[in-house]
Amino acid sequence: MIRSVVLGSGAATPRRSMSNAEFEKIVDTTDEWIVQRTGIHSRFIADADETTATLGTRAAEAALADAGLTPDEIDLIILATSTPDNTFPATAVDIQNRLGMHHGFAFDIQAVCTGFIYAITTADLYIRGGMAKRVLVIGAETFSRLLDWEDRTTCVLFGDGAGALVLGASDSTGTVGERGIISASLRSDGAHKDKLFVDGGPSTTGSIGHLRMQGREVFKHAVAMITDVITSAFERAGLGVDDIDWFVPHQANRRIIDASARKLGIPPEKVVITVDRHGNTSAASVPLALSVAIADGRIKKGDLVLLEAMGGGFTWGAVLLRW
Ligand code: UT7
Repeated sequence: MIRSVVLGSGAATPRRSMSNAEFEKIVDTTDEWIVQRTGIHSRFIADADETTATLGTRAAEAALADAGLTPDEIDLIILATSTPDNTFPATAVDIQNRLGMHHGFAFDIQAVCTGFIYAITTADLYIRGGMAKRVLVIGAETFSRLLDWEDRTTCVLFGDGAGALVLGASDSTGTVGERGIISASLRSDGAHKDKLFVDGGPSTTGSIGHLRMQGREVFKHAVAMITDVITSAFERAGLGVDDIDWFVPHQANRRIIDASARKLGIPPEKVVITVDRHGNTSAASVPLALSVAIADGRIKKGDLVLLEAMGGGFTWGAVLLRW
């Protein structure tokens, strides 16, 4: 059988990091409230010349370099984003062009904060289906452009950035000890669409709109949804919590991450936390967290890694892969 194996990874953040103290000058908030309720100390905010396409391209170039591959050797680009540069064409084709790649195909996936989990799952199906041998999977966002900078309940939470993985087809006998994506579980339920959404769009207001969130409502559902979908990914793989080396969750809120890990029985030393420096970067959050844990030597070849995300829609999902 064929398995999708990670060949390389990369990340990119905007030049400017913005501290909680800077928010104290903009809205009625404090560093203490933000840290206590979310675990966020700072986040990166894109300058005008930094877009989802430029950040995504930088992350893609870094992932290609890490894999020792050129764009010629990629068949497909999948970009997870809810903040495309334009309504259309897909920002993925812009990135394809910026990479100098004029063969193959590219498209965007929109599943908000779960976008990267949906994207690698989709890439895995293209690879196992035989339609692509090497896929560049990118999560890139400029959520700062969607924020209502007068709404203290949302503007302090989000940040911008991008992360990417190169996945490649590899022969496998299908055992859980071999490298590659082992199992995944995806969910969505549109009954929750008004709890976290953007109040504009091309078919309704004709404008971009602003992010709106009933934070407490999202929080209420998050832990149960996250733990359910992870349990389902474990069941599909025939694996359990004790088998994993690293838990790399969506970085929305430190309290949600801690509560999910506690409920699942994952010890804190196996949990990768980057919400303190990135804030919530939506589809970029999981690959950005991965990049930190790879760079500091925690995630190594052969480790069993559990990825998870939950967000607008609601959408939620988990992936188990042997690095
Ligand atoms: O990535 C997609 C998934 N998104 C999430 O996972 C986000 C989920 N939700 C959360 O992370 C949390 O609900 C928040 C961090 C958004 C809020 O934390 P909370 O503990 O649920 O606070 P709350 O909404 O219950 O608000 C508590 C108080 C309120 O004041 P009152 O009504 O008690 O007087 C808020 O008005 O905190 C107030 N508040 C703030 N105070 C200072 C809300 N935002 C701020 C702020 N600074 N920035």
